[in-house]
Amino acid sequence: MLTNSSPILVTGGAGFIGSHFVLDWFTHVGTPLVNLDKLTYAGNLRNLESIANRPDYTFVRGDICDRELIDRLLVEHQPRAIVHLAAESHVDRSLVGPQDFLTTNVQGTFTLLEATRHWLATLPEAERAEFRFLHVSTDEVYGSLKPGDAPFEEAFAFRPNSPYAASKAASDLLVRAWVKSYGFPAIVTNCSNNYGPLQFPEKLLPLILDRAVKGQPLPIYGDGMQVRDWLYVTDHASALRAALELGKIGETYNIGGWNEQANLDTVRLLCELLDEFLPDSPHKPHAQLMTFVTDRLGHDRRYAINATKAERELGWRPKETFATGLRKTVRWYLDNRAWVEEVTSGAYREWMETNYGNR
Ligand code: NAD
Ligand code: TYD
Repeated sequence: MLTNSSPILVTGGAGFIGSHFVLDWFTHVGTPLVNLDKLTYAGNLRNLESIANRPDYTFVRGDICDRELIDRLLVEHQPRAIVHLAAESHVDRSLVGPQDFLTTNVQGTFTLLEATRHWLATLPEAERAEFRFLHVSTDEVYGSLKPGDAPFEEAFAFRPNSPYAASKAASDLLVRAWVKSYGFPAIVTNCSNNYGPLQFPEKLLPLILDRAVKGQPLPIYGDGMQVRDWLYVTDHASALRAALELGKIGETYNIGGWNEQANLDTVRLLCELLDEFLPDSPHKPHAQLMTFVTDRLGHDRRYAINATKAERELGWRPKETFATGLRKTVRWYLDNRAWVEEVTSGAYREWMETNYGNR
């Protein structure tokens, strides 16, 4: 029997945004939650230690491509919603090896949609009407903006430029088709770049912080004038909660920070904060470590989100500014060196060699 106190099923809840979403859920909602995660290199159960022993929390290690597993979880837990975050998420990795992106992001989303559609068909109409599938996606599906272009709106055409963006766009289109063809109760969010604690140090901010603390060169792709619209990760978590509760079936909501920054400026700000927080560092001024390296293939020049619809229809706006969010982020990475050391041992070293060795 689906009710408001039925569990929600989260995919990818051990990743960066997923773990913030899970923590946010127990702070603000507190109904049961099942977390399905494959625990790839990007998944880390340490992120969830504070809630791991709650009786209303269940962790399942598994793959979203595993239809039998999904079928079983749906029957067993009777979730009132699925919040689908599981994905391969790093553009540079998608350039080196796109297969996993196609498998997880496209095939995995398809598997979830089909399993859920068939399970929903077994429910009475009244219960089915309560169910929602929240598909979490990225602004990268819209491609790249020129300097004067208007920020991405929900109706913009998809023009993905990386294998990652293409795989996410494909999954968004599958969701759209399931809504139109089968009346599938899905809502889609497309969010800009997230930053904050618990982000794997392959992405720009944690990578720069880790290397700067160690006095290593800080790799700036190309001329460093690419623009990203940064959102503090807890603001994304609250947006997803709002979309789940207030979003309309078949609608897309763009989520962003109203915060466009050129990469060079972002890295400079991080270096200034490190100079302030580590006054005795031998690597001061940290900005001297900035090093221009060969650009990323097909590098998108600018992303920017128009989040007016989310504000109007979901009552959502980001709480953190870039200044407050960056301070919290730098503080967290300095206070959690053990977390960084743990996730950057082993396979991480191979990735650094693959991506940066010949740049
Ligand atoms: P992440 O890479 O940190 O985490 C992904 C999680 O998914 C990991 O815990 C991983 O173990 C899990 N996973 C991967 N493949 C799986 C599979 N086949 N089955 C089950 N679990 C699997 O990613 P993130 O940055 O937290 O992003 C989460 C979602 O948000 C993704 O869908 C991403 O496209 C989207 N998104 C990310 C950003 C961003 O800036 N990071 C911005 C907008 C949207
Ligand atoms: P990233 O964090 O990988 O996010 P995305 O590619 O999804 O936007 O990169 C953010 C920006 O920083 C992007 O323009 C690429 C750039 N970048 C660098 O200049 N150097 C690096 O080492 C990395 C990882 C990214």
